[in-house]
Amino acid sequence: MVDVILGLQWGDEGKGKIVDYFAPGYDLIARFQGGPNAGHTLYVEGKKVVLHQIPSGIFHEDKINLIGNGVVLDAVTLKKECETVAGHGVDFKKNLFVSERAHLILPTHRALDKASELSKGNDKIGSTLKGIGPTYMDKTGRNGLRVGDLLDKSFLSQYIKLRMKHQRILDSYNFNEDISAWEDDFFESIEFLKGLKIVNGEYFINDKISQGKKVLAEGAQGSMLDVDFGTFPFVTSSNTISAGVCTGLGIAPQKIKEVYGVTKAYCTRVGSGPFPTELHDEMGELIRKTGNEFGSTTGRPRRCGWIDLVSLQFACMLNGVTKIIITKTDVLDGLDELKVCNAFKINGVEQNMVPMQMNRMAIEPVYKSFDGWKQDITGIKTYDALPAQMKTYLDYLNNFLKIPVKYISNGPNREQIVVA
Ligand code: GDP
Ligand code: IMO
Ligand code: MG
Repeated sequence: MVDVILGLQWGDEGKGKIVDYFAPGYDLIARFQGGPNAGHTLYVEGKKVVLHQIPSGIFHEDKINLIGNGVVLDAVTLKKECETVAGHGVDFKKNLFVSERAHLILPTHRALDKASELSKGNDKIGSTLKGIGPTYMDKTGRNGLRVGDLLDKSFLSQYIKLRMKHQRILDSYNFNEDISAWEDDFFESIEFLKGLKIVNGEYFINDKISQGKKVLAEGAQGSMLDVDFGTFPFVTSSNTISAGVCTGLGIAPQKIKEVYGVTKAYCTRVGSGPFPTELHDEMGELIRKTGNEFGSTTGRPRRCGWIDLVSLQFACMLNGVTKIIITKTDVLDGLDELKVCNAFKINGVEQNMVPMQMNRMAIEPVYKSFDGWKQDITGIKTYDALPAQMKTYLDYLNNFLKIPVKYISNGPNREQIVVA
C-alpha cells in the first residue's frame, strides 16, 4: 500500500521533517512531482540539511528512495545534494533510485524561467528560478528530454536541437546572459547522474508494492500551489495534490491508503499571489521572526498570516486527507491571542468556498479568536500534557475540518512530535 504526505497550504509546511519522522515505518520513500524548487528541511544528528531533489527518507539506512517520473530533475543540484548526504554517511549509490521517465531541467530551462519572470515585471510569479515551469512546458509540449535519454547515443544531438529552440525564445526575450558555465556544470553532472541507479520507476514501485513493501509518497510545494486548483497563475507547474501521486509514480488510485495533510498552525507563502489571511502588521513580523520564516530554497522572507480554514477545507477535499498533521505550533507559544479564518467575506457576503480567481476580488477574512497558551510547549511529549487553550484550538480545527488532527509538531527536531 501507498501512504502520502503532502502540504495543504502554499508549501513549507514542514513536510521534510514529517517524512523523516514517518520514514522508519516504510520501505520506500518517493518524490512524485516538483523539482529543486522544493526545500525540505530536516535535522540529522542536530545538523540542518535541506533537500531539494532527494526524498526525505534518505537518512534512514535501509530505506529505498525513489525520484519518480513526475519529478523534474536538475542534475547539478542532485550531484551537490548527493555529496551533502554522503558527508552524513549516506550510501546514495545503494539507496537512491531515479526514474528514467523523469524530465531533465536543462540550463536553458533556467534561463527561460528567468527571462519569463523578468518580462512579467510587477506581475511576476515569484518563481524560484530553478527552471520548473519551462521544463514542465517542454514535457506537456512534447519536447523535453528525460533521464533515460541520457543513456541513448542520440542525446547530444537531441540536446543541441532543443537548446537551439530555446535560444530562439531567449532571443525573443532579449535575454543574452552567458550560460556556458551552467552548461559545463550540466555536462559534468549528467555523467554523475548516469552512474546512479536509473530504473523503470513504474515497474520498480509496483513490484515493491506486490511484494508487500510499504511506500510513502512525499509531496513538494502545497495544494494552494497546484497548477489546477491553486491560486493560478501564482502556482507551480505540477499537480501537487494526491492525484499527482498516481501520474507521478505510475501507481493506481486504489493503492493509496492514508493521505496525511500537513499544515502549519498559521500560514505562510513565498512568492507573489493572493493570500487572504496575510498579516501586514507587527504580528506578521513576529511570526516571521519567531518561526524563522525565510525560504529554504531562496532565502526570501516568507509572507505570514493566520491559518485559513476555508483554503484548508478545500485542500482536504481535493486530496482526500485522512489525517492532519499540524506543525510549528510552538511558534505561537508567546501569543496572547490567536486567530483562525473560518469564512471569506466577498462583496459583503460570507462564504466558505475558494473562488477560482482570488486575486481579482477583495476577500475579507472572517476570524474567530482563541486564547493563547503562553507556555513553552517544545518539550511536551504527550497530548494530555498540552495546554488546555491549545486543545480548545485543536478541537475547533477537528470539528471544522471533520478530519482528525492526529500529529502535533512542536519543534524542528525529529522527536518533537505529539500524537493525539
Ligand atoms: P517543507 O518544504 O514543507 O519541508 O518545509 P521547509 O523545510 O521549507 O520549512 C519548514 C521549516 O520549519 C524548517 O526550517 C523546519 O526545520 C521547521 N520546522 C518544521 N516543523 C517545525 C515545528 O514544529 N516547529 C518549529 N519551530 N519549526 C519546525
Ligand atoms: P516546498 O516543497 C514554497 C512557489 C514559488 C513561487 C511559485 C512558483 O519546499 O514546500 P516555481 O519555482 O515552482 O516556478 O515557483 O511557487 N514555490 C514554493 N513555495 N515551498 C515550495 O516548495 C515551493 N516551490 C515553489 O515561491 O511563488
Ligand atoms: Mg520548503
